[in-house]
Amino acid sequence: MNLRHHTILITGATGGIGEALARQLADRGARLQLSGRASPQLDSLVAELVERGAEAIALPADLADPEGAQRLANHCLPEGLPDVIIHCAGMMHFGDYADVRGGTVDALMQVNALSPMQLTRALLPALQRRGSGRLVFVGSVFGSLAFPLYATYSASKFALRGFAQALRRELDGSGVDVTYVAPRFTDTRLNQGAPAQIAEHTKMARDTPEQVAAAIVVAIEQGRRYRWFGWAERLFMTVNSLWPSLIDKALRKQTRQMRAIAGIPPTAPSLSSRGT
Ligand SMILES: NC(=O)c1ccc[n+]([C@@H]2O[C@H](COP(=O)([O-])OP(=O)(O)OC[C@H]3O[C@@H](n4cnc5c(N)ncnc54)[C@H](OP(=O)(O)O)[C@@H]3O)[C@@H](O)[C@H]2O)c1
Repeated sequence: MNLRHHTILITGATGGIGEALARQLADRGARLQLSGRASPQLDSLVAELVERGAEAIALPADLADPEGAQRLANHCLPEGLPDVIIHCAGMMHFGDYADVRGGTVDALMQVNALSPMQLTRALLPALQRRGSGRLVFVGSVFGSLAFPLYATYSASKFALRGFAQALRRELDGSGVDVTYVAPRFTDTRLNQGAPAQIAEHTKMARDTPEQVAAAIVVAIEQGRRYRWFGWAERLFMTVNSLWPSLIDKALRKQTRQMRAIAGIPPTAPSLSSRGT
């Protein structure tokens, strides 16, 4: 698929991966509808791309607001039904689940899982009437490998992967296709703080946002259904789906190490293991 003159809506366009996607897709001549929360960063990205000769508009939306996705669809449709919709907006929580605030759980599930579903729901009838389109969902390795200290984030990405897979099967033959991509650790703002320290200490394999964006662009051009990142991560995901207890064991030591690096106290031993 040649992306020149194709209309592409990107949520999370102000983030590391989304911004790299916007620049690379602009270079390919796509017409861009860029969404993020209203911010000077969104405006300056649009201004920069327009200056470089690209077609780009800003469609600000707060996707933590349950009405945000529908509002974004309402603003996007008069500008032209997109040929490709890249659901890239995301937020993350790292730490003990017992310590997460209720509002964070709600906002994270809303941004990462519900808003892509709601935006898809709002645009899908028009895509189906036209008989073409590609929905791209930016998931994560954690959408197949549930990780300790990332419980809410893992849950949101599992939900997103399930939605994308079911929808791909449901839309088979309709002309509307689905691509699910699962990046591994990527150097962006999402990981600032403890996750970045852990990656540094453990020499975790990582990608730049530009590498991830380039792979996503190729996946779109080639009409791929999935794009996974990292062979070791893929192996872990496969073992996890076949034999999760093996991964439980493998992650036990790593979780202790993550806690130590992040300064999170070890989990208290259960009452029964204390022999009381
Ligand atoms: N970085 C990684 O290691 C990694 C790995 C696997 C998957 N991913 C996924 O890749 C995607 C992009 O993440 P990134 O690494 O590029 O992170 P990032 O730099 O933090 O960017 C996140 C993007 O999501 C947007 N966003 C967050 N909350 C929002 C809200 N309430 N309403 C609207 N937009 C909101 C941000 O917009 P604002 O600028 O307005 O905040 C920003 O554009 C996410 O879905 C993430 O889960 C990342």
